[in-house]
Amino acid sequence: EILAVSLLGWSSCLIFSVLEEDFQITHAHNTVSNFKRFHGRAFNDSFVQKEKEKLSYDLVPMKNGGVGVKVMYMDEEHIFSVEQISAMLLTKLKETAESNLKKPVTDCVISVPSFFTDAERRSLLDAAQIVGLNCLRLMNDMTAVALNYGIYKQDLPAPEEKPRIVVFVDMGHSAFQVSACAFNKSKLKVLGTAFDPFLGGRNFDGKLVDYFCAEIKSKYKLDPKAKVRALLRLYQECEKLKKLMSSNSTDIPLNIECFMNDTDVSGKMNRSQFEELCADLLQRIEMPLLSLMEQTQLKVEDVTAVEIVGGATRIPAVKERIAKFFGKDVSTTLNADEAIARGCALQCAILSPAFKVREFSVTDATPFPISLLWNTEAEDTEGVHEVFSKNHAAPFSKVLTFYRKGPFELEAFYSDPNGVPYPESRIGKYVIQNVAAQKDGEKSKVKVKVRVNTHGIFSVSTASMVEPVKSEESEDVGVETEVESQDQRPIENSSDVKNKIPDKKGDQPPEAKKPKIKVKNVELPIEANLVWQLGKDLLNMYIETEGKMIMQDKLEKERNDAKNAVEEYVYEFRDKLSGPYEKFVCEKDLQGFSALLTETEGWLYEEGEDEAKQVYVDKLEDLKKLGTPIEMRYQEAEERPKLLEELEYRLQYYATIAGEFRNKDEKYIHIDEMEMMKVEKCVSEVVEWMNNAVSAQAKKSLDQDPAVHSSEIKGKLQELNNVCEPVVTQPKPKVDSPKEENPLNEQSDYKTEDMGDDDKNSEMPQQNGECHPSDQNTISMDLD
Ligand SMILES: *[C@@H]1O[C@H](CO)[C@@H](O)[C@H](O)[C@H]1NC(C)=O
Ligand SMILES: *[C@@H]1O[C@H](CO)[C@@H](O)[C@H](O)[C@H]1NC(C)=O
Ligand SMILES: *[C@@H]1O[C@H](CO)[C@@H](O)[C@H](O)[C@H]1NC(C)=O
Ligand SMILES: *[C@@H]1O[C@H](CO)[C@@H](O)[C@H](O)[C@H]1NC(C)=O
Ligand SMILES: *[C@@H]1O[C@H](CO)[C@@H](O)[C@H](O)[C@H]1NC(C)=O
Ligand SMILES: *[C@@H]1O[C@H](CO)[C@@H](O)[C@H](O)[C@H]1NC(C)=O
Repeated sequence: EILAVSLLGWSSCLIFSVLEEDFQITHAHNTVSNFKRFHGRAFNDSFVQKEKEKLSYDLVPMKNGGVGVKVMYMDEEHIFSVEQISAMLLTKLKETAESNLKKPVTDCVISVPSFFTDAERRSLLDAAQIVGLNCLRLMNDMTAVALNYGIYKQDLPAPEEKPRIVVFVDMGHSAFQVSACAFNKSKLKVLGTAFDPFLGGRNFDGKLVDYFCAEIKSKYKLDPKAKVRALLRLYQECEKLKKLMSSNSTDIPLNIECFMNDTDVSGKMNRSQFEELCADLLQRIEMPLLSLMEQTQLKVEDVTAVEIVGGATRIPAVKERIAKFFGKDVSTTLNADEAIARGCALQCAILSPAFKVREFSVTDATPFPISLLWNTEAEDTEGVHEVFSKNHAAPFSKVLTFYRKGPFELEAFYSDPNGVPYPESRIGKYVIQNVAAQKDGEKSKVKVKVRVNTHGIFSVSTASMVEPVKSEESEDVGVETEVESQDQRPIENSSDVKNKIPDKKGDQPPEAKKPKIKVKNVELPIEANLVWQLGKDLLNMYIETEGKMIMQDKLEKERNDAKNAVEEYVYEFRDKLSGPYEKFVCEKDLQGFSALLTETEGWLYEEGEDEAKQVYVDKLEDLKKLGTPIEMRYQEAEERPKLLEELEYRLQYYATIAGEFRNKDEKYIHIDEMEMMKVEKCVSEVVEWMNNAVSAQAKKSLDQDPAVHSSEIKGKLQELNNVCEPVVTQPKPKVDSPKEENPLNEQSDYKTEDMGDDDKNSEMPQQNGECHPSDQNTISMDLD
C-alpha cells in the first residue's frame, strides 16, 4: 500500500505510527501518501490547499466540506474521505499484524502529533472505528517516546528524590516536536511540549529539489516541475543525497538517467553547501526549544539528558543545533525510526489486560489552554473561564457549578488561537438540557463535569442538577465528594472551581446555610455540537463500505490464487513433459497435451486474463484430466521397483526361516509345524502372484497404465507380513538366560503396520542391521 509504517509484533494489539515516506512513482496518481495531516480539516483549509499543490494524487472536497481523495478503485473513479483512507491503512496493518501473530487483533494505540487538535484526533478515532479497531489511546508522539525511554531505565530516582528531567526532540518527515518530561521510578510526567508543525525532513528535501530544479533548468533546459513523475524521482534522489551527506562531507554526485525527454541529468553537492542552503530551516530549530524552556521554567542545567529521535535528526547540522542549545551532547539511545511505535506498543500492553507489564504511570500535558464561554442569566453578558491551562495534567476531569433556571449553553474553545496550528479555535458547543428552576422559583444548582480524556480530547462529559429533598434526618450531604474522577487523579476541589467562576451576581450558592437538606442528583442530557464531527450515518456508511472492500480484496485474492494455480500448472507440466514425464506419454497424447498447454498459456494472457475464479478452477480441472494419468504412471514407475524388491526380500527372509526350521535349527524349534506350514503356503502363493505381476508388467510400455499398481504390491506385502511375522517371532519358552533368548530382537526390528504408507520404510532397515528400539512396532521378547 501507501505509507511506510512502523509496526512491531509486540502484542496482539495493533501499533502504528504514521511516518509519511516514499512516494510510489509508478502509480503516482493512485498512491495516497502524506494524508495524516488532512484529518479533521476542511477542504478549503489553507494548509490543505497548500499541500494539495505538492501531491501526486487528487484532493477533492467532500459533501460535508471535508477532505476527499480521488483514486481509481476497481477501474472506477472513487472518492474516499481521509478517514476511509486511514481506515484502509489500518486494515492493512491489522492484517499484517494478525498474520504475524496468528491471532486476531482488536485493540490498538495510535500515535498523533502532540499539536493535533480535537477535530484531528476525533477524525483519526473515526478511522479506527471504521475498521472496528478499539483504540485504547491516542498517544502523543513525544509521550510515546518518553514511555519507551522510561520503562527500561533501571536508574531513575526514587519518589522522594528530585525527579530526572529529560528533553525529547523529534524531527520526522513533516514536523518538529519537543517535550520535557520528569521521571520518577515507574512514573513519567510531561512538563511541557513545543513544536514547529511545518519543519521536518521533507523541508530539507524540498531545498535540494528546488536547488536542482533550478540547476536542471539552466543546464538542460528542462523543467522537472512540469512533470509529476520526474519531480517525484527528483525528490527520491534528493532524499538519498541528503542521507549520504549526513555521513560524508565530501562532494556527492546526483545522477538520474533518462530523467526527462531521454536526457540524463547530473549534479553534485556537499554538506557545507547543503547547510548553507538550509540555513533558514536550521534557524527555526531554536524557537520551539526556547518555548519549551520558558513554559516549563527549566534551565538547561536542569536537563539531565537530551534524547533525539526521528529521521531528520540524523542531519549533522540539526544534531549540532540541538546540542549547542543545551550545551551538551545529545543521546541517540532510542531507535530513531521506531521509538514512537515502540512507545505505543508498550502503552498498549500496559492498557491491555492480556499482558503483564511493569506498572508505569503516564501523565500527559494539555498542549493548548482550553476555555469555556457562557451567557449569564442575569444580564446579557458572558462568562469565560479557562478550565484547562497550558500543560495542565491530562487525562483530567473537573466539576464546575452553575446556578440556572433553564437550559444553558457552554462553548469550548482554545483560548490562545495563535498558538494552535489549526484555523478554527472553537472546539464545540454543549447545551445542558432539562434544567428547571426549583419549586420555590430559586435557581437550581447544576454541576457540569468537563474532561480531557485519555485521547487528549476535551468534552463536557456529564451534567446533573442538584434537587433538594425534604428530610427529617439532619444529614449533611457532601455533594462534591460524589463526583469522582475516572482517572483516579485529584480533582480540583469544587470550592476552588466555584471561586474561579466569575458568574456575576445573582448566582449565590443558595443552600450554603441549609445544612439539613438532603439532595439528589438528576442526570441532565447534553447536546454536543462539535467542530468537524462525522455524523453517525456517514460513519456507518464508511464502516459498511470498508467491510465490502475487505471482502472484495479477499475475493480478488482468491481469484488471483486460482489464476496463478493454472499458470503454475502449465509451466511446471511443460517443463516435466520434456524431462521426467517424457517417457510416460505416447506421442499422440504428448502432441495434444502440449498444444493444450500452449493454448492455455496464450489464453491466460489474453481473453482469460481477467476471469472469474470458477473459470480458472474449471480450466485447471481440464488440464488435470490429461495430466494426472501421466503423473500417475511416472510415480508408479518410480515406486514399483522398490516395492517389488522389498517384497522379494521379505519372501526370501521367510523362506530362509522355513528352511532353517526344516533343518531343525534350534532357533525355531519351539514353533509348531502347522504354523510353519501356513508360512510356507503363504510364501509360495505370494511368489506366484509376484511372478505373474512381473511378467504382466514386462509386457507393458511406460506410456501405458501399469499392469500392477504399487498399492497392490503394498497390499501383498502387508498380507505376507500379517501371516508370517506372528509365527516366526513367537517367543521361545524360558529356559536359558533372557539375553540368549532373544536373538531375533536385532533382526526383527520391523514395522509391520506402517509399511508402505511411508516410502522411507521401504528401505528395509534390517539390511544394514539397524536397530530402532524406540519404534512403536519393535517386536520385543518378553524378558521376564
Ligand atoms: C471554508 O468553507 C466554509 C463553508 O464550507 C466557510 O465557512 C469558511 O469560511 C471557508 N474557509 C475559508 C478559509 O475559505
Ligand atoms: C516524584 O515523586 C515525588 C514524590 O512523590 C512527586 O512530588 C513528584 O511529582 C514525582 N515526579 C514525577 C515525575 O511524578
Ligand atoms: C563544497 O562545495 C563548495 C561549492 O562547490 C566548494 O566551494 C567547497 O570546497 C566544497 N567543500 C568540500 C568539503 O568539498
Ligand atoms: C564519500 O563520497 C565520495 C563520493 O561518492 C566517495 O568517493 C567516498 O568514498 C565517500 N567517503 C566515505 C567515507 O564514505
Ligand atoms: C521535451 O519533449 C517534449 C515532448 O516530446 C517537447 O514538447 C519539449 O519541447 C521537450 N523539451 C525540451 C527542453 O527539449
Ligand atoms: C481547595 O481549594 C482551595 C483554593 O484553591 C485550597 O486552598 C484548598 O487547599 C483546596 N482543598 C483541597 C482539599 O485540595
